[in-house]
Amino acid sequence: MASVLTNEPSGSAYGRSRHTHDSEITEVGPGTPCGEFMRRYWHPIEIAERLGERPIEIRVLGEDLVLFRDRSGLPGLITPRCIHRGAPMAFAKVEERGIRCPYHGWLFDTEGRCLEQPCEVADKPAFRERCRQPWYPVLERYGLVFAYLGPLEKKPALPRWAPFENLCPNEKIVPDAASYSVGGDETEEIIPWNWLQDWENTMDPFHVVILHTAFSGPQFNPEMAVMPQVAWHDTKLGMQYTAHREFPDGRTMDRVTHVMFPSLRSVPNIQLSAGIAESMGWLVPIDDTHHRTFHITRMPLDFEGVPLVTAPILEKKWSDMTDEERWKMPGDWEIQKGQGPITLHSEERLGSSDTGVSMLRRKLRTQIQIVANGGDPVGVQLESDAPPMEIGAGNFY
Ligand code: FES
Ligand SMILES: [Fe+2]
Repeated sequence: MASVLTNEPSGSAYGRSRHTHDSEITEVGPGTPCGEFMRRYWHPIEIAERLGERPIEIRVLGEDLVLFRDRSGLPGLITPRCIHRGAPMAFAKVEERGIRCPYHGWLFDTEGRCLEQPCEVADKPAFRERCRQPWYPVLERYGLVFAYLGPLEKKPALPRWAPFENLCPNEKIVPDAASYSVGGDETEEIIPWNWLQDWENTMDPFHVVILHTAFSGPQFNPEMAVMPQVAWHDTKLGMQYTAHREFPDGRTMDRVTHVMFPSLRSVPNIQLSAGIAESMGWLVPIDDTHHRTFHITRMPLDFEGVPLVTAPILEKKWSDMTDEERWKMPGDWEIQKGQGPITLHSEERLGSSDTGVSMLRRKLRTQIQIVANGGDPVGVQLESDAPPMEIGAGNFY
C-alpha cells in the first residue's frame, strides 16, 4: 500500500487525515490472507518443560486453544470449549490416554477422539466417534512445543536448523520465551503490539546506531556507533542484511542478520563476539495486537537461566526501570510499543535507510499472495528427511 501524503502544504496538523494500518500484512486471524499464510508453517507455542499436570491456555494466530500433555507423554492442542456442552477444557485433567472434561467426564485423546462418555447409558461408538474435539497437530523439538494450525493435507515437516544440530559434547540448547529481543526481559512474555513491527525492526540496522547507541547510550556494544555500509539480499528462506563496519583500529566486520519466513530471525551476538549466531528466534502472533518471542540458544552444559545474548546492556533490568529511566534510555520496547498496537502504515515516509523494511514487506506480500493463489510458501518442506536449514547469520571479522 502506497503512503498517502495528505498534509496541507503549510504542514499544519489541523484537518489532517486519519491513518490506517495495512491489514494484508499484519492481521493473522483465521481466514485472513496473512493468517492463512502463517498457518502453513509450524510455530512454537510453549516451552516444552512447562507442560505438566495442568493444561495451559494458549492464544495463537487469534485462536484460543488448550495445550496439554497426557500421562503417556504425548502433547495435545485442542479448542477450549468441550464439544459436548462447552465446559472449559482449561479445567480438564490429564490421564494416560488423554484429557478428561470436568463437567461430564468425556475423555479425549491428543487428536480429539472421544474415548469415553461415562454418563451415556451405553457406549454408542457411532455417536462417540462423531464427538470429536477440534484439535491441531503438535510436535516437540529444541525444547519447544510447535503447533501447526493449517490444513492437514498441507502439513509440512517440522524443520531442523543446522546451527542447532550436531552440538559439541559440552553444549546444550536452551529454549526461552523472554522478551529480551524486544528490549523487555523474562518478566514479560506477552508483547502488546503487532508481530510485524518487531519482525521488520530486525531488517533496520540503522536504529542500532541511533537508538541503541547514540541516543540511549550503548545498549549493545559501543562499537555499534560506527555507521555501517548496509546491503540487503534475498535468501532462499527470506532475506538478510550485511552491515559492514570499519573500526578506527583497522578491524573490519560484516554483521549478517537473517530473517526467514514466516516470522523467524537469527540476530548475531550483540556484544559483537565473532562467529555464527548462537541463537535464533520465532515471533509468534498471539493475535493482531500481541505477540510472543521464542528463542533457542547454544549454551554450555552447566548454564542455567535465560541466555542474555539478545539482552540490552542496561544499568538495570528493564522491568525495574522507572518511567524516567525509560525516557532517558528508551529501547526497542518503548519504541515499538509507542508505534501503537498496529503501526499506521499509511502515514509513513520510507527513505533509503528503510530499504530492508520495504523489501521485507514486499516479500511478505508476495508469499501471502502465493498462498492465496493455492501455492506453497517459501521454506515449507514436505519431506521429513530434508536436510537441516542453513542460517548463515553471524559477526564475521
Ligand atoms: S461439557 Fe464436557 S463432558 Fe459435558
Ligand atoms: Fe533494536
